[in-house]
Amino acid sequence: MKNMIIKGFSKLSEEEKRNFISIQCKNSVRTSAQLKHFLVDDPVERKHFLELSENTISSFHTPYGIAPNIVVDGKIYHVPMAIEESSVVAAASHSARFWAERGGFRVKQISTIKLGHVYFRWFSDPVELLGQWEILKRFLLERLKKVADSMVLRGGGILGLELQDRTDTIQYLYKLELEVDTVNSMGANFINTCLEDMAEGLDFFFGGDPHMEEKKYQVVMAILSNYTSKCTVSIEASCKVEELKSISEGMDVETFTDKMDLAYKIAHTDPYRAATHNKGIMNGVDAVLMATGNDYRVAEAAAHAFASRDGQYRGLSWCMINDLVLTIGLTLPLAVGTVGGITNLHPLARRSLEILGNPTAKELMGIVAAVGLASNFAAIRSLVTTGIQKGHMRLHLSNILNMLNATTDQRMETEVHFNGKKVSYAAVKHFLNGNQH
Ligand code: MEV
Repeated sequence: MKNMIIKGFSKLSEEEKRNFISIQCKNSVRTSAQLKHFLVDDPVERKHFLELSENTISSFHTPYGIAPNIVVDGKIYHVPMAIEESSVVAAASHSARFWAERGGFRVKQISTIKLGHVYFRWFSDPVELLGQWEILKRFLLERLKKVADSMVLRGGGILGLELQDRTDTIQYLYKLELEVDTVNSMGANFINTCLEDMAEGLDFFFGGDPHMEEKKYQVVMAILSNYTSKCTVSIEASCKVEELKSISEGMDVETFTDKMDLAYKIAHTDPYRAATHNKGIMNGVDAVLMATGNDYRVAEAAAHAFASRDGQYRGLSWCMINDLVLTIGLTLPLAVGTVGGITNLHPLARRSLEILGNPTAKELMGIVAAVGLASNFAAIRSLVTTGIQKGHMRLHLSNILNMLNATTDQRMETEVHFNGKKVSYAAVKHFLNGNQH
């Protein structure tokens, strides 16, 4: 059936929506049954869960695993990761264990200032705006006191307010930059409320919103920035070069170290490699953010903007060899919360935070960055030694065997047969068909 425009879809009940969508599919009975099958059983939890979003007709499951032994500043964490890509959890765990036995990851720097902006055009004389700025600033900050009250009680609040001239980029354009501390919450709602209050404050200060021809100014928009350049965490880990022998896959340690070093330099200089290098970091980062109910899209947007901060897109992590000691490091812009939002609403996000010992937002930043760096180190190690396909093939084979509903005996025979061989769906199916008992 051809899809048609439907009016009032959101008004349908959950069941009606599911039926409407299912009947458009070739096998509507199967589609409807599977959509239903993946719903949460408990009716109360199911309702909470489905109401997190809109037009929900099912829930989309993602494997939830643990990367054990992530050591950050001497503390051991067994870190929940929600990710569908095979090898990521295994690689992060392997790398974490190596670093755990060598002191783990150390947080070198952490800052949690978040930024938001009100963009506006000033059509009148700029001198007039600049002349009134100090009074306007006091007026806006005074108004913000009532909005920021509860955040101040939690130990955060407004840290600063600046007027920035953007007329060199777009005619008449200025922006107000607000700096805030949202403590253990991600704080998006708080920041946006503050910014919208400031936009309203501009209207009060300049006397309403006259007709266009008389306008002195125009508010364009008020929104937080996902380029969290002042909310960053830097971590490092070091080991003696000779200790790399245990993970060099038989390669002599000088060649291995040299290739590792080169891999990081290539990511620093070549954007084509840097994007893949950073994807390997974000494999770990996003998985922990997902598992803890944090917004991984923010982390992605921030990471890639930060990776281009000097005008060229570069790898976010680095490697240094000094006096026969190898150090790896990573600086990530990372806005996370451990209270409020989805972290409170999603039952598994709550459990993840409990598994992590209910960390503060700063502690979680260190953990997330450590998993990112561990994932990255594991990827680079594979790339400069065996290549990544070796590890992937084992898991790829397991996924294919699951799809083909292989029995335990068939699995064992197939795993032996494909050891060291190229795995494909067709080849595995062919092998299973030829080996039917
Ligand atoms: C695959 O998900 C991630 C890697 O491509 C990362 C990298 O190349 O560094 C293996």
